[in-house]
Amino acid sequence: MKALVCEAYGPIDTLVVKDIPSPVPGPKQLLIKVKAAAVNFPDALMVQGLYQVKPPLPFTPGAEISGIVEAVGAEVMHYKAGDRIIAMVGQGGFAEECIAEAAKAMPLPAGMDFETGAALVLTYCTSLHGLKDCGHLKAGETLVVLGAAGGVGISAIEIGKAMGARVIAAASSDDKLDLCKKVGADATVNYSTENLKDRINELTGGKGADVVYDPVGGPYTEPALRSLAWRGRLLVIGFAAGEIPKIPLNLALLKERSIVGVYWGDSTKHDPAGHLANLHQLHEWFAAGAIRPVVSEHFPLAAAKEAIAKIANRQVKGKIVVLPTAKAN
Ligand SMILES: NC(=O)c1ccc[n+]([C@@H]2O[C@H](COP(=O)([O-])OP(=O)(O)OC[C@H]3O[C@@H](n4cnc5c(N)ncnc54)[C@H](OP(=O)(O)O)[C@@H]3O)[C@@H](O)[C@H]2O)c1
Repeated sequence: MKALVCEAYGPIDTLVVKDIPSPVPGPKQLLIKVKAAAVNFPDALMVQGLYQVKPPLPFTPGAEISGIVEAVGAEVMHYKAGDRIIAMVGQGGFAEECIAEAAKAMPLPAGMDFETGAALVLTYCTSLHGLKDCGHLKAGETLVVLGAAGGVGISAIEIGKAMGARVIAAASSDDKLDLCKKVGADATVNYSTENLKDRINELTGGKGADVVYDPVGGPYTEPALRSLAWRGRLLVIGFAAGEIPKIPLNLALLKERSIVGVYWGDSTKHDPAGHLANLHQLHEWFAAGAIRPVVSEHFPLAAAKEAIAKIANRQVKGKIVVLPTAKAN
């Protein structure tokens, strides 16, 4: 089968598509024919050796997929060949076939296509966990989302609205902000042309925001933290800008602000029941039309490295997906 392979940590351009043996599922695993694999920012970091998880080489990137079960391990009870599923696989997704732990798979919900299924779990679970479990966002509060047109950003806008917050989307271009408005943002800040803190203050009548969702870091975190109201919460999601900001702690003391880390992947191990409840909530919102992942582009497997480069180069709106077996559809 064909797969995108990282043979050495380094530039994204050094990834290659090649034939490798089909993987064989272990007793608790599924062999999946991959129909869609979402591209996420950590894929770009992982192949460069810049992510907290460093798989042994060579490896195939691609953390979240949807597809059709081809074979199941001897101890798997709840799936059979032909089932349509979504799975978090961590790596291996940019390939015609991949292995999923049965425990990390779920049926593709009725009415959901493969592309949407692949694009749902990582970003929406991160945002729901961040906003609800870590940020304690309440209805009527004001939420500011940085990098709002990106993968986790769009999901934070939609979930913020579903939780009853007023959502201010912040991004680097008017084009990106147009998409944010389309998915429900109440107000916008273009932080390439406007002063982030001043604009948030203006939009909140001088009170400041209650929660900031920050997947970007770099030069945006400190002004966003300074824009928080009394007892506001800054959610540390990631550092897509590349720089991990160093924050003067007096900004937390003043106004009793909290700086809260969010690590969705590990949170599912510490609180599996909470994770299941969140998945259930997402399915309900999807069925009600309250959340709808924006898949802006698809790529064949041969162009998977261009897709990863695109996310690293700040050029993606919403989510992009690779369709490894598109010709066989
Ligand atoms: N903590 C967790 O559990 C968790 C889970 C999932 C993802 N994450 C992290 O969240 C971050 C965002 O992930 P994502 O999948 O949403 O990525 P994404 O779709 O690429 O969105 C990131 C956004 O960051 C902004 N950005 C600013 N400077 C950038 C730069 N130099 N290069 C690239 N983007 C830049 C871009 O928006 P503008 O152009 O509008 O500024 C971009 O849309 C990543 O750091 C990822 O590792 C964390």
